[in-house]
Amino acid sequence: MFNHIQAAPADPILGLGEAFKAESRAEKINLGIGVYKDANGQTPIVKAVKEAETRLLADEKTKNYLTIDGIADFNTQTQALLFGEGADVIKQGRAKTAQSLGGTGALRIAAEFIKRQTNAQKVWISTPTWPNHNAIFNAVGINIKEYRYYNKETKALDWDNLLADLNQAGKGDVVLFHGCCHNPTGIDPTPEQWKTLAKMSAEKGWLPLFDFAYQGFANGLEEDAYGLRTFVQNHAEVLVASSYSKNFGLYNERVGAFTLVAENAEVANNAFSQVKSIIRVLYSNPSSHGASAVATVLADPQLKASWIDELAEMRNRIKEMRAKFVQLLKEKGATQNFDFIIAQNGMFSFSGLTPEQVDRLKDEFAIYAVRSGRINVAGITNDNIDALCEAIVKVL
Ligand code: LMR
Repeated sequence: MFNHIQAAPADPILGLGEAFKAESRAEKINLGIGVYKDANGQTPIVKAVKEAETRLLADEKTKNYLTIDGIADFNTQTQALLFGEGADVIKQGRAKTAQSLGGTGALRIAAEFIKRQTNAQKVWISTPTWPNHNAIFNAVGINIKEYRYYNKETKALDWDNLLADLNQAGKGDVVLFHGCCHNPTGIDPTPEQWKTLAKMSAEKGWLPLFDFAYQGFANGLEEDAYGLRTFVQNHAEVLVASSYSKNFGLYNERVGAFTLVAENAEVANNAFSQVKSIIRVLYSNPSSHGASAVATVLADPQLKASWIDELAEMRNRIKEMRAKFVQLLKEKGATQNFDFIIAQNGMFSFSGLTPEQVDRLKDEFAIYAVRSGRINVAGITNDNIDALCEAIVKVL
């Protein structure tokens, strides 16, 4: 029964990680998968997380199952981060959250929920986007429509075409937004543009779905939630898939959350009971460790402050590397203008490198990036930046 099965192509992002591991050249540089690295090229455990884990090890009394929706404190804290402490939507009981297996798990719950419980026929996805968005909605069988997002000439948001495309999104269509740090471009709407989009969405009756995987990596925890919060103020219904992989560095613990906002508490409770049915058949209930660490940190003012400081350090290091990268490319002789990289948010930069140039970086210099030209700026360090810029100038 298996003999006819064709090999699947490697995942465009995770497949790179496997190839990088197998790479034998010592000077190799990994700018592929979106994982934060510090100045020493390490992905450290956040200090507050380590302390929370120490406490958990001492205090944990049972390994009994969690409930289907996970740890209640974790879910409450997640809502406070998303919508702001004491936000109306929380007080009114309109938001319900389920702990999920990372941001991808949350997106899959969202897709299943949309497919099974709403009349939505289409989901609008930015082009370009994170490739797994398409794969997840294909997996549940929802039609995908694309809206233009990136202008290759200006290396900026393709605002006019974005509006023209989304103008065709109708009542009940799902529109997927990246809450901040758009993956792969690093380009986010301005506050004014978010307001325009939220108004348009409310008028047209879309169901907005926010993929919010990088809160805290653009400008700060509160600042980065501007788009989502603007939508929540204008909409009876919103869906959110959020992640703690990046901002808590909990990549391998798979900690995320699916949150739904409904018109009132009763509707939210009914809809959420269906979310729990979906989770039950996907993986029954989530694992405890990573979400317990998050809940412990967020409930302790000192640990929370330490985490916020460390998150700021990560964000600032990436910003410094952006500036240095652009400066050094100039110094090494790049004739193109790369200034646009400085204005981009989060880990990623859409560098403008072509797939052929990315291939050459890998083949000739052991530098790994996504073929779309996306580079993970968080993978750049003072130790590798010279070699990186020299290689890029050579392939340009
Ligand atoms: C990325 O885009 O590199 C990350 O979100 C990791 C992933 O799962 O693709």
